[in-house]
Amino acid sequence: MIGIISAMPEEINLLVNKMTQTKTVERGMRKYYSGQIWGKDVVIAYSRIGKVAAATTAVTMILTFNVEKIIFSGVAGAISQNLNIGDIVVAKRLVQHDMDASPIFPRFEVPLLDKSYFDTDTELSNKVLQAAKIFVQNINRYITRDLLRRFRIERINVTRGDVASGDQFITDRRKHYELKHALPSIVCVEMEGAAVAQVCYEYNVPFAVLRTISDNADHNADIDFNQFLSAIAARYSTGIMDIFFSLI
Ligand code: ADE
Repeated sequence: MIGIISAMPEEINLLVNKMTQTKTVERGMRKYYSGQIWGKDVVIAYSRIGKVAAATTAVTMILTFNVEKIIFSGVAGAISQNLNIGDIVVAKRLVQHDMDASPIFPRFEVPLLDKSYFDTDTELSNKVLQAAKIFVQNINRYITRDLLRRFRIERINVTRGDVASGDQFITDRRKHYELKHALPSIVCVEMEGAAVAQVCYEYNVPFAVLRTISDNADHNADIDFNQFLSAIAARYSTGIMDIFFSLI
């Protein structure tokens, strides 16, 4: 059984529609949809936004549904100048950018776990990367030319890189540059991945994080984010996850 988590219902509704033999179970104010995609057992849930929401969803997937692997799929704000809206990032490592117990522990280190960066599973991430590349090669099957033009999406870049998570939607340029300076390897920011990463590390469950760039983590981020989410985000995550299940 593979667990798929997204923060928002918009991002998973289309994927849930692709499931067969769907059963719904409610735990801790969240619905978990279990069933099959391409004959593979899967459980899908939307966590809501933020690290606690994502962590509790991941724990439920592990303890209640006995998932062997978890994939988090969602959107992110770009930090790297090489990323544009519509580009795709498969996380290498995750870090909690708002963790700061200094001077007792170094900034970003999760206290008493002795870790700042959590590695994603290489094999699982490579499969997700492969699915993302196939999605991009066939983009016109999933997203109309008009929609791509509306979001100025031209050449979609698919890349691997470090991802930072925190309970903060980044719209402030100063914060953006402060994070870029303090965590030079990060390519984008979001609000859940590193929480799922910590849970998966603690339970020894392989995981991957897939992020589509919805905004540039700047003064326009809230507008870009909302438009991207309502018009296009689900097509990315559903398309890539559907290809992923056809590959494994
Ligand atoms: N997810 C998508 N865009 C984001 C941003 N600008 N800050 C935090 N999380 C995000």
